[in-house]
Amino acid sequence: MKILVVVASKHQTTAEIGDAIVEELRAAGHQARRVAPADVRSLAGIDAVVLGSAVYMTQWMEPMRALVADRAEELRRLPVWVFSCGLAGLASGQVQDPARASGLIRQLDPVAVTTFKGRLDAATLGLRERAVTRMGGAAEGDYREWDTIRAWARGIAAHLGERLAEAG
Ligand SMILES: Cc1cc2nc3c(=O)[nH]c(=O)nc-3n(C[C@H](O)[C@H](O)[C@H](O)COP(=O)(O)O)c2cc1C
Repeated sequence: MKILVVVASKHQTTAEIGDAIVEELRAAGHQARRVAPADVRSLAGIDAVVLGSAVYMTQWMEPMRALVADRAEELRRLPVWVFSCGLAGLASGQVQDPARASGLIRQLDPVAVTTFKGRLDAATLGLRERAVTRMGGAAEGDYREWDTIRAWARGIAAHLGERLAEAG
C-alpha cells in the first residue's frame, strides 16, 4: 500500500522517528515516504497516512495544525495513525499526551494514537527554548525508544497488510 508519513519536526528528533517508521513500512513491503506537512499536496492515490508532530508548549507544531485544519475531511476518509513526540512528564517516567493536540487528533478519528519520548539537546536550542526547558526541569538526553517506535510501525504494516488481504 502507499503510505504517506507526514512529520513536523523542528530539531530533527521527530523526523528521525518518521524515517524509522518509513523503513519498517518498506521492510514489510509497503511503499512509504516521509514529507513535511507543508509539502502535502494531494492525497490522491494514498492508501494510509501516518501523522507525527513534535510537541512544543503542549501543542503540535503549527504546520501540522494547519494541515489537519485544512485537510481533516480528506484525512478522515483514510486510515490514519497519529504520534506525538515530546518530553512532558519524563521526570515521572511517563510521557504525557500533548493536551492541546487532543481536539485535533479527535477530528482525525485515527486507528491508533501514541506519544513517543523525544530528545533534548541544549546545543541545538535557541536561548528562549533553553530558558523554557530549564524552567520545565527537563533533563538533556535522547530518550527515544527505537524498539517501541519500530514495533508500532510494524503494527501499522501488519494492519494494512490484513486490509489488503481482505480486499483480495
Ligand atoms: C521550548 C520547548 C518546549 C517544549 N515543550 C514541550 C511540551 O509542552 N510537551 C512535551 O511533551 N515536550 C515539550 N518539549 C520537548 C520536545 O517535544 C522534544 O525535545 C522533541 O523531541 C523535539 O522534537 P524535534 O527535534 O522533532 O523538534 C519542548 C521542547 C522545547 C525545546
